[in-house]
Parts: sequence; C-alpha cells; structure tokens
Amino acid sequence: MPKAPTKRYWTVRSSSIHNRGIFARREIPNDVPIIEYIGEKITKAESTRRAEALVDKAKKTGGAAVYVFTLNQRHDVDGAKGRNPARYINHSCAPNCEAYVIRGRIWIYSIREIKAGEELTYNYGFDVDTWDDHPCCCGAERCVGFIVEEKQWPKLLRKMEKLERDVKNGKFKVNGANGHATPLVNGTRAKKKSA
Ligand SMILES: C[S@@+](CC[C@H](N)C(=O)[O-])C[C@H]1O[C@@H](n2cnc3c(N)ncnc32)[C@H](O)[C@@H]1O
Ligand SMILES: [Zn+2]
Repeated sequence: MPKAPTKRYWTVRSSSIHNRGIFARREIPNDVPIIEYIGEKITKAESTRRAEALVDKAKKTGGAAVYVFTLNQRHDVDGAKGRNPARYINHSCAPNCEAYVIRGRIWIYSIREIKAGEELTYNYGFDVDTWDDHPCCCGAERCVGFIVEEKQWPKLLRKMEKLERDVKNGKFKVNGANGHATPLVNGTRAKKKSA
C-alpha cells in the first residue's frame, strides 16, 4: 500500500478547466503517490440511484459535478461527502496523473514530472457511449472535445464523423447542447497498479 507523501504536494484553487481544481505546490517527481481518493464505498445499485438523482439535478440546474469512482464490478466510491480534496481533480485529455486501485483503495499517481503551479489532472475514463453528455474544457492541444477514455478515442472519432455526415445529409438539425444529461452510471474509472 502506498504511503501518503510526507510533504503535501497539492493545493486547491480555482481552475480554468472547471470551478475548483488541484494544483502542484512544489515539483512532483514521476510515479509517486500524490493523494488518496477517499469516499463512501457503495453498491452499484446505490451508485445508480445517486446517478439518477444527479440527472434530475442536472436537468434543473444545467449541470452537476460527478464524484463517483468505479472501484470494481460490485462497488463504487462516492467521494462527494466528507474530507476528500482529491475530488477537485479535473479531467484532461493530456493528463499528468493517473488513478489506480491498489488493494481496494484509490490513489492518484504522477505519470510524469510535474512543475510547481501545474494543475493536476487525470483522464476520467468515461465510456464513449455517453460522450455528448460530457464536453471537455481541458484546453490541452490534443483535447478531443469530450471526456472519454483514451482507448475509446478512435470510436469517438467515428461517432463524431457519423454525426457530421448525418447533419450534412439533413438527417438532424443541430440545436446546440444535447438537452439531456446522463451523469455516469459507472463513474470515473481507475486502473489497477501493481504495488
Ligand atoms: C470530480 S469533479 C472535479 C472538481 C470540480 N472542478 C469541482 O470544482 O467540483 C468532476 C466534475 O468537474 C467537471 N469537470 C472536470 N473536468 C472537466 C473538464 N475537463 N471539462 C469540463 N468539465 C470538467 C465536470 O462537471 C465533472 O462532473
Ligand atoms: Zn480535453
């Protein structure tokens, strides 16, 4: 199990990506545990119930932040309540961190050297099937425009090309935002890391 770093590497402040984010307070070496993602361990059924409540909230308020992490096939971790500063880490298409599940706990690791002041990000790993519910504002040069797991980017591209063809052929009228919100039922995904 990784040990929490003796020096605190991060600080919370407002982010150009979305609302609040987490930033490096000092230089962070590659491949070190930075912060644990702490939360309430919940069943998939409870997770789905909370996701549906978020959909309702998003319909009323126009948006809702998602703090659910997929832990394994049976459980998720809801990091919305209590002291969990890792909840403020935003998604990026060119991330400098990665989330790993290590013996049932979620740790955020650096995946390269990070300079003081850089915002800490990881790829949320959302499924491509809900791509148009999650536009991405990460601002990276390689941003694909939507919060989607990198492995699924080729599929995302095909879906976007198909949509473009359909619009050109007059199949759809584009009205801007898609008008519905489906916060992830499965939550943000972490990878497995051999400790
Ligand atoms: C775990 S929270 C991240 C912290 C959030 N910025 C806050 O202040 O609560 C996840 C939510 O942040 C927003 N978010 C994170 N990364 C984003 C990105 N790259 N583009 C757009 N919104 C993002 C989305 O609303 C998402 O549901
Ligand atoms: Zn992006």
